[in-house]
Amino acid sequence: MKKPVISPSILSADFSQLGKVIRTTSETAAEYIHIDVMDGCFVPNLTIGPCVISSIRRYTNKVFDVHLMIEEPIRYIDDYVKAGADIITVHYEACSDLKATLKKIRAAGVRAGLSVKPRTDVSAIRPYLRYTDMILIMTVEPGFGGQSFIYDTIENIKTAKRMTARLKRRIPIEVDGGITPDTIGEAARAGAEIFVAGSAVYKAKNISAAVDDLLFRAGSAYGTKSVH
Ligand code: DX5
Ligand code: ZN
Repeated sequence: MKKPVISPSILSADFSQLGKVIRTTSETAAEYIHIDVMDGCFVPNLTIGPCVISSIRRYTNKVFDVHLMIEEPIRYIDDYVKAGADIITVHYEACSDLKATLKKIRAAGVRAGLSVKPRTDVSAIRPYLRYTDMILIMTVEPGFGGQSFIYDTIENIKTAKRMTARLKRRIPIEVDGGITPDTIGEAARAGAEIFVAGSAVYKAKNISAAVDDLLFRAGSAYGTKSVH
């Protein structure tokens, strides 16, 4: 039986209470914490940098799942590793030398994630899978939390799943954007194992109960048939 992982995205949290939010998240069943880094260039929004990550690092031992939505992330890998990232995900669309970028992440001692936007052909990442430890399928256009899940991206999850099934090494698939109690089952059935959830966790009254509910719904979806 596959075990789902929840990665709450702090983008939807109250930034004025960040330390407290991280501490509370630390007490939930979520194994990862998802940190969205945006540069106002690759995506039309600006968020946080390495100094914020290093200041929240001391509040938890959870896996820091850092999603870089920035142009040419190779320039900042060392900074994010030093700040405390455990996984660094870069975008296929944002790197002029993707192989060098992924190799640099691994050489720095952390896991290398590779992400594609909803309209990118997922098969384009095939040549880079040998340098990749996790695939992140975007299920909304990157840039903002609180958007609706794009159902067409189910096909992208399935394509990634088919591509990785042929490999000897296991590469888990993460999904990000619009993951809620209503959509998580479809993403799980298509092959996702790691689920980023921003508003579904941080806009809930009880974030621990929200994480448990997502875990339960993903877990029960495995092994059942897709309706899409
Ligand atoms: C969007 C970010 C997501 C976002 C998810 O660009 O990568 O991680 O915070 O938020 P929800 O779960 O609210 O769609
Ligand atoms: Zn993200």
